[in-house]
Formats: sequence, structure tokens, C-alpha cells
Amino acid sequence: TIHKVIGRRVWDSRGRPTVEAELHLEGGAIGRAIAPAGASTGTGEAIDLRDGGDRLGGHDVGQAVRNVNAVIAPALVGRDAADQAALDARLVELDGTPEKRRLGGNATIAVSMAAAHAAAAARGLPLWRHLGGEEACTLPLPEIQIFGGGAHAAGRLDIQDFLIVCPGAESFGEALAWTAEVYFAAGRLLAERGLLKGVADEGGYWPEFAGNEEALAMLVRAIERAGFRPGEQVAIALDVAASQFGRNGRYRLARDGGRELDTGGMIELLLDWLGRYPIVSIEDPLAEDDPQGFAAFTRQVRGRCLVVGDDFLVSDAGRVRAAAQSGACTAVLLKPNQRGTLTETRAAWDAARAYGMTGIVSARSGESEDVTIVHLAVGWGAPQLKVGSFSRSERMAKWNEGIRIEEALGNRARFAGREALVAGGA
Ligand code: PGA
Ligand code: ZN
Repeated sequence: TIHKVIGRRVWDSRGRPTVEAELHLEGGAIGRAIAPAGASTGTGEAIDLRDGGDRLGGHDVGQAVRNVNAVIAPALVGRDAADQAALDARLVELDGTPEKRRLGGNATIAVSMAAAHAAAAARGLPLWRHLGGEEACTLPLPEIQIFGGGAHAAGRLDIQDFLIVCPGAESFGEALAWTAEVYFAAGRLLAERGLLKGVADEGGYWPEFAGNEEALAMLVRAIERAGFRPGEQVAIALDVAASQFGRNGRYRLARDGGRELDTGGMIELLLDWLGRYPIVSIEDPLAEDDPQGFAAFTRQVRGRCLVVGDDFLVSDAGRVRAAAQSGACTAVLLKPNQRGTLTETRAAWDAARAYGMTGIVSARSGESEDVTIVHLAVGWGAPQLKVGSFSRSERMAKWNEGIRIEEALGNRARFAGREALVAGGA
């Protein structure tokens, strides 16, 4: 039974305020979680409630924290922390808006995740085991950023994430070690050319490239320099985050000479890259307002490249169903703070699975030491995990947690590996 709920202001990886929630149960168990924050957010996301004004760039979370302490706490005290669905339903009801506009999705997700931690602690189980039971034994394929662009690097490149996956690795731990080799090889290549300029918001190298394609070419060279066979052992994934530079069927590539493409042109560009680079997954290839573009692209690449909906699906079960029925994507990105409760996020994953789509549990560009998402990926059996790059401790905390879980599973541990890149569906 919930005895106390505390909200407090803590700070995220961008040095901005964010909400931490702490739940105390009657028996003494405690659960704690911190809300993350996005920079390239979809319009359908739960609202990240900020105070506005001049202080702290308008990013303070005083109201969201007060909502935890004054509105959510009294409503949850005395309830059963183990009944996640009922708690989350209560949060939805208390808020009363589809976007968590009143309480703030940052307030509700912190509480929802903290409740899960408290319930797991009360059972003396790690969260992944509490959520997934005996069947939870698969470690996700990590999807790791090497170059960061878009909204995470002041628009230095149009494409937001240049990532790698290691389908040829035997384990989660081995995939991380391979990624480290590629990350350092990429850094050495940049340094040799005088292009090493620090890291972007998610820890990937700040991209000093002439255009988007140069980053792709450099990524292949880094994979080779690290001693891996591109495509077979280590492959490329992109998050185009096209909503950042496209709307109404027009896509303006500021870093490719400012050229403007229509939906067909954008699809041609991506198909051209798919033909020449070992790309196995593309997230938000088109803008969130271009469902027909998504469907046209997916028709052409199904079976050879995953099409992932992030801003397009915003972890929403209804949108996932619609996308599955129209064949608009083959994978859903799952970001708990896009919905504001774990139960609603989980519903999006269940909807995806029901249609043969695959899923990627994902962090945000604004993160913290909170490692809840790693437990969700294992506990929910999501085949991939996306956490940004391979530096900065808000990222490494998650990768390191995966290592601990893999070790705890011992010889029962499985690794999603290559199978994570397969999706069925319409
Ligand atoms: P965000 O970006 O967390 O800044 O929204 C991450 C992504 O687009 O996947
Ligand atoms: Zn994205």
C-alpha cells in the first residue's frame, strides 16, 4: 500500500530541471524515478509541463512538482502499488486531458515509473523480473548513436541520429564492446581530419561534415577501421527525425545545399542511401504529417529495412494500430514520457506485437541516471534498446545496467541480436 508520494526538482543531462518522484510503501519499500525530456518532440506527445517565464530559460518544473505533491500524492496514498494499471488509470482520470496537460506528462511518468520500482522492491525483485516474470530473459539489441545531428546538434546536420547496431554480436555485452571500438574508430577518423569538435546532446560526436551523406560514408569507414564487416557484423541505423525539417510534403535539407524535396524525392534519397550503405533501420523517414509517405516508403523497403515510427506514433496504441493497418511502419519507438504512464506505453507495444510489428524502447535526448527503460526493454521483451551514444554517464548508466541484467540471467540470458531486425505485419 502506498504510504507517501514525494515530488522533487532534480536536474537532467542538459542541466535543466526535471521531475523526480519517490513512492514509499507501508512495508518500507521505496521506488524512485526521474522524468526524461525530448528536444525533437512529436506534436502528439504528452505535455512536458514547464513553468515558462525568464528563470532557467522557462524550463523550471515548479508546477509539475507541486502537482505530484498536492494533487497526485493525496489521490494515490492508500492504494495498491502493485496494481500498475489501476494506478495509471487513476493518473489519467485525475488529469482528465488526452495530453496530460493539467498534471504534466513529466509529473505522471515519474510517478508511474516510481510505482513500478516500489512494487518490484516490495517483492524483492529487480524491475525487469517484476515486469516480465520467468519469461523475461532476452537482452535487447542496442542501437547506439555515433554521430548526433538535427535538434541535438543545433541543426549541424539535417539527419538527427547516425547509429549502429551489432547484429553479429553474440551477447549484449559483446555488442557494447564492438560499439566502443566503432565509436573510438570514428573519433580517430574525425581527429585525423581535424573535425573532432566534442559531442552532441546524446554523446555522439558533434558532426563537422559537409553534408548528410559524408556522415554515412564516415560511419562505414569507422566500422571497417574497427575491424568489422559492415552490414554483416555491424550495420547502420538512421533516425531521420524528418518532422524537424519537413511539413506539408516538403522537405528542406539545409545541410545539403538547402535543397527542397517532395515526399517522392525524400523517398528516392533514402532508397539511394539504402542501396549504397548497409542501413537496416530508418526511424521517422518522413514527417509526422505524411502518413501516405510512410506507407509508400514501407512498401518499398519492407523485408530489408525496418521503418520505425517515433514522432509519427508517439507511443500511442491507437496510432500504432492505424499505422499497422495502413502498412505505414514496421516498428514502434517506445518512449514512456510520450504517453505519461507505463500502462499506456505498454499498450502501444502490445498493439504493435498484435500486428507483427517490432519495437524499440528508447531514452530521450534529455536524460538522467534513471535506468528504468532498460528494465522495461527486458521485462516487456522489446527486441531493441535506443539510449543515445557511448559516452556521458546518463547514457552509460543504461548500457551498464544491461550488463548487470545479462549477468544476473547467467546461462538463461538470450540476446535479441539479428532477429531484432525482423518484423512481420501487414
Ligand atoms: P528527443 O529525440 O528525445 O530529443 O525527442 C530522440 C529521438 O528522436 O529519437
Ligand atoms: Zn526519433
